Amino acid sequence: MSEAVAVAHPNIALTKYWGKRPGAGRFPAVPSLSVTLAGLSTRTRVRFDQALAADRVVLNGVPADGEVEARAVELLARVRAASGDPRFAEVETRNDFPTASGLASSASGFAALALAAAKASGLAWDAARVSDLARQSSVSAARSLFGGYVELDAGTVAGGSPASDFLAARPIAPGGHLPLAVLVCVTSEGAKAIGSTTGMQTTLNESPYAEAWLSHAPRLHARLRAALLARDFAAMGALAESSALAMHASAIAAGVVYWTGATLEALQAVRGLRAAGVLAFATVDAGPHVKILVQPEDAARVKATAGAVPGVRRVIEASIGEGACIDATAAGVRAEAGVEAAKAS
Ligand code: DP6
Repeated sequence: MSEAVAVAHPNIALTKYWGKRPGAGRFPAVPSLSVTLAGLSTRTRVRFDQALAADRVVLNGVPADGEVEARAVELLARVRAASGDPRFAEVETRNDFPTASGLASSASGFAALALAAAKASGLAWDAARVSDLARQSSVSAARSLFGGYVELDAGTVAGGSPASDFLAARPIAPGGHLPLAVLVCVTSEGAKAIGSTTGMQTTLNESPYAEAWLSHAPRLHARLRAALLARDFAAMGALAESSALAMHASAIAAGVVYWTGATLEALQAVRGLRAAGVLAFATVDAGPHVKILVQPEDAARVKATAGAVPGVRRVIEASIGEGACIDATAAGVRAEAGVEAAKAS
């Protein structure tokens, strides 16, 4: 029996990945830059066992639904192909944040699964190789292997075999480089209507603005990266908001509408804060929730304003966190002599 437990955190993209390169594999069409969040975790245990006749995936205590299970089984099959060990695995994964909170549970979920599966199967992979493995299940998961500010390039290959095309995220600055608080304004508790994989595909296939998005996104990305490196919070926030608005504008033109009235109310509140001199900026992912980016000293005031927005049910405050890591102290995991809690970042 070989097992490992990994912990990973969600990440929020400041410049959005939206759209895949055509051809085989799961390669982003545009670069993205994210920040990994502290205080919200996915914890995943993987156990390879010769007594199992198939992989088993349990998410928050219940068997995972068909699509999540299929993606997890694909990841496990990639690990088996790399290690040469044919055993099936039992996967138990749990989020300590509400799944409908608008935080990308697939990012932390596949990052934790990739790290735990690689470790449990004895693969001595560095964080970049694990990031590449996670990307093949969900592109945004590649970024959760690392802490602080993290960048993922666009894929360079328009087709070909994904197994031979490597693409991993990389850390570009620690959280302390430019401290930031993220206020997640939860506007509804239901699951989102259109998953991101389908939403971005429909956008690229049907939006009259798809080409505009694909050419504009890398320019926004380069400018935001420069603002981050220059520690210019105001410029970085403004560019993050632009990236989210451009992504949604292209999606909305294809009929992919994630916004609700509460989304617009929250966006309006953020504009009001800026008009009052507060550096607050908004970003929105593939759902209705608005995430507000502020400097830590403004978090309490902005949280109070956001909580009073019509349609906002609650506000979750997160700071910048660390990359995924193996929990070598987890109960039931055999301690390996000389191996410490190996950090992936
Ligand atoms: C809006 O990584 O969930 O959150 O690769 O198809 O699994 P797949 O998509 P996913 O998309 C994330 C989209 C986003 C922006 C981002 O995180 O960059």
